[in-house]
Formats: sequence, C-alpha cells, structure tokens
Amino acid sequence: MHKRQKYRDLITQTFDFPQRDFKEEKNLLYWNDLPLMDIIAQYGTPLRLTYLPKITQQIQKARRLFNASIANNDYRGDYHYCYCTKSSHFSFVVEEALKNKVNLETSSAFDFEILKRLEEKKKIKKEAYIICNGFKPQNYIDKILEAYANGYKNIIPVLDNLDELERYGTPSEPMNIGIRIAAEEEPKYEFYTSRLGVRYNDIVPFYQQKIQDNPNFKLKMLHFFIDTGIKDVNYYWTEFHKALGVYCDLKKICPELNTINLGGGMPIKHSLAADFDYEYMINEIVSQIKITCNNEGVDEPDIFTEFGSYTVGESGCVIFGVLGVKNQNDRETWYMLDGSLMNNLPDIWGLSQRFIMLPINKWDDDYKHVNLGGITCDVGDYYNSDAHINQVYLPKIKQGEKLFIGFFNTGAYQDTLSGYGGIKHCLLPSPPHILIDEKKRGEFTYKVFAEEQTSDSMMKILGY
Ligand SMILES: Cc1ncc(COP(=O)(O)O)c(C=O)c1O
Repeated sequence: MHKRQKYRDLITQTFDFPQRDFKEEKNLLYWNDLPLMDIIAQYGTPLRLTYLPKITQQIQKARRLFNASIANNDYRGDYHYCYCTKSSHFSFVVEEALKNKVNLETSSAFDFEILKRLEEKKKIKKEAYIICNGFKPQNYIDKILEAYANGYKNIIPVLDNLDELERYGTPSEPMNIGIRIAAEEEPKYEFYTSRLGVRYNDIVPFYQQKIQDNPNFKLKMLHFFIDTGIKDVNYYWTEFHKALGVYCDLKKICPELNTINLGGGMPIKHSLAADFDYEYMINEIVSQIKITCNNEGVDEPDIFTEFGSYTVGESGCVIFGVLGVKNQNDRETWYMLDGSLMNNLPDIWGLSQRFIMLPINKWDDDYKHVNLGGITCDVGDYYNSDAHINQVYLPKIKQGEKLFIGFFNTGAYQDTLSGYGGIKHCLLPSPPHILIDEKKRGEFTYKVFAEEQTSDSMMKILGY
C-alpha cells in the first residue's frame, strides 16, 4: 500500500530538523519559539514581523567569536562592531542594535538626521565610531563635517576616490580618515574592478602625495569589502591577502594607520541546509591578519566590521495566506498568495534571492510540487525554487482549508528596495518631479508636481 508522505517527513528527511530557530509542534511551525499561527489569527495576512531579540543575539554572537579568536591567537588589536544602517534604517532596529553599544556605518546625508534624532533620544553617545562610506555628494560631506564639529570625534570618513579629500577643506580639528580599497570583482560580474573605492596601486602614492604631510588628516583605516560576502573560497582569500598586503605596505610609512575594516558580507541563513561555520571563518580572518602582520613586521590592526544583513536579516519574516489554487496544466499548480512577493521581497525578483520558505500550518498533510504566485499582475511576481532544490513543495490544500506560508530571514534591504512607505535605498530622496505640457507646438509649460523628498518625511516612516 502507498505510504502517505507528510510534509513533516519531507523536512525531517531532508534537513537536520528541528533547528535553533525553527521547530514544529502539533502541525504548526514555530520561528524563534513564536506561535506564528496565533499571531496570524490575531493580525491576519499578509503580515510582516520583526523579532527584535534576534538583533541583539547576532551582535553578541559576532562579538563573542571575534573576541574569543583575538584571545586564542594572542592578537594585539581590538574588535569593533558597526551596524550598517542601510540594511534597515528603522528606529526600532537601530535602537535595538545600539542597546549593544554598536558603532554605526553611514551611506548618505540623511543618515545624519537619524544620528540627530538618536542623540535627542539619548540612544547614542558621541564617542561612537561613525564610519562614513560611499561616493559622497557635497551635502553628505557637509553633514560629516558638521557632526565632527559637534563632537563626534570618532567619525571616520572613508575616501571612496582620489578627489574626495579636498572636499573636506580644513576641518575644525585634524580628522581621522580611511581609504576604501576597490576590490577586484568575482569573475561572474560584468566588471573587473569594483566601482567603489580606490585602486590598489593608487593607494600608497596617494597617501604619500596628499596625506603624509597634510596636518589636517590622519589616515587611520583601510577599508576592504567584498560585495559577494565573507566566504571560505579562493577568491575571498586572494582579495583578503591583497588588501592585507596594502595594509602592511602603508603601515610601514604611515604609523598612525591602525585599523582594518572588513565591511559587511557576513552570511545569514537562506536555507535550512546552510551550515556556515562562523567560528572557523572568524578565527581564520583573525589568525591570517596576525600571521601576515607578524611576517611583515608591523603591528596587528584593530578590526572593524560593518555587518548589515548579518545584524538584521534573521530578525524579519513575511507571511502570506494562500488565496486559491490554480491548475494551469497537468504539471503546473499555482498557489496564489494574498500579497505580492515583488512588493515585499524584491530581491526574489531582482536577484533571484532564495529565502527560507516554509508552511506555517498543515505539516501533517501530504505535499505536492507547486509554484507560488504573487497577487500583482506582473509575470515576474512568483517563487518556484528553494535554495537547496530547484522546486517548491508545500502541503496539499483541500476545499475550504487555509494554508499560510512564511518567508524567513528577510529583515535586510527588502524595505528600502521596495520603497516601504516611501523610504529608499541608502535613504536617497525622491528627486523633484516636474510635469511638462505643450501649450502650442514648441512652447512648453513646467509645473512642480513634487519637490525633492525631505528627510522629515523619511524619518516619520522610519519611526524617528
Ligand atoms: C560599505 C559597506 N559596508 C557594509 C555593507 C553591509 O553589507 P552586508 O549587508 O552584506 O553585511 C555594505 C553593503 O552594501 C556596504 O556597502
């Protein structure tokens, strides 16, 4: 006789399950021990959740692993955790991170409005390191200088290009700065060298010509960030060692240099099969910096990180209900969701990102191969493969039954990319919008439909 295959069996036979964040009880899924079905009963679907304690757990885990590795390797430098605000600027996220006395990384002028409001609420101290990255328009540079003059003495603008330094003029006091190395991109990209940062070979000559004898600036930090993330692969280690080489060359002629910034890119779980070994990777990073510096006869630097996804990604989830089932041919069944994947999780559409996707209920039911359809009319609003397998399996739905589905670890970048409430990636405002009409042939009229978006409007959406 054919044995019924329950959804629970599929998961327990495919993965190590239950896991720390995911378990099943009485056919229902619990995420971080949260009774998701009760939450759905109270608030309905579609629904977006942020589980704040996860943010603190992540920060503490990274700190613990870096500090343990520093102690075990007898490493003579400190570790500093920065939160990269662009991954989620919401007040509740940044404030939760700041409970752990993190430093901040900024990416545009509006970040300084956040800083102002955090200061008013006494959530941040002026001793915090504020690392300022990005290609900077003058308003961003002005905000950096203003914050510096107002007492943020540990602000460190990281030069993205060779022209940036001059735009700071003469700061109120000599200022610490960093330089970002432009990494070589992974071969899969269309570009060879990252557009962000200064080319490897330009860094030492630039220091000698523009900074070494300049009384207004001290080069403290070398910034190195691999966009594809921290991974135990040849490409990462090659770029990492190139960056360390530049650090050591610079350190020999620049005694005030004392920090290496590894940027972001610490991975998070996008599959129940993920088994990234954080302890191993962090220990490798710390020990390799130490070995290289010792071989080169220079002191080990302090280590900064700017983890964005890692800090906030695993705190978020989005839940949908299945509105209906459509069989479009013999093999293609669609579960139509009561919300849009494109609108809520744009990385699915833009990057073919996979998230952990699981049913919230019906774990005791048979399962089948399905496609998930968002409710917009856009053909691209769908999800049909998980990270570990090129397909999606979910419990079957009988007439009159309700199935709920969660996408997990979705807390980073999705809100800014999808423009939640009117916010934008890196908090760059919507530009002014001009309506143009043609009164007579060749005679145009111009009307301002909207001025440039204000920081106040974004601060309100973000909860400041
Ligand atoms: C300079 C810099 N630091 C940190 C980050 C954060 O990266 P992640 O979210 O992968 O940790 C980014 C992301 O784009 C970045 O550009």
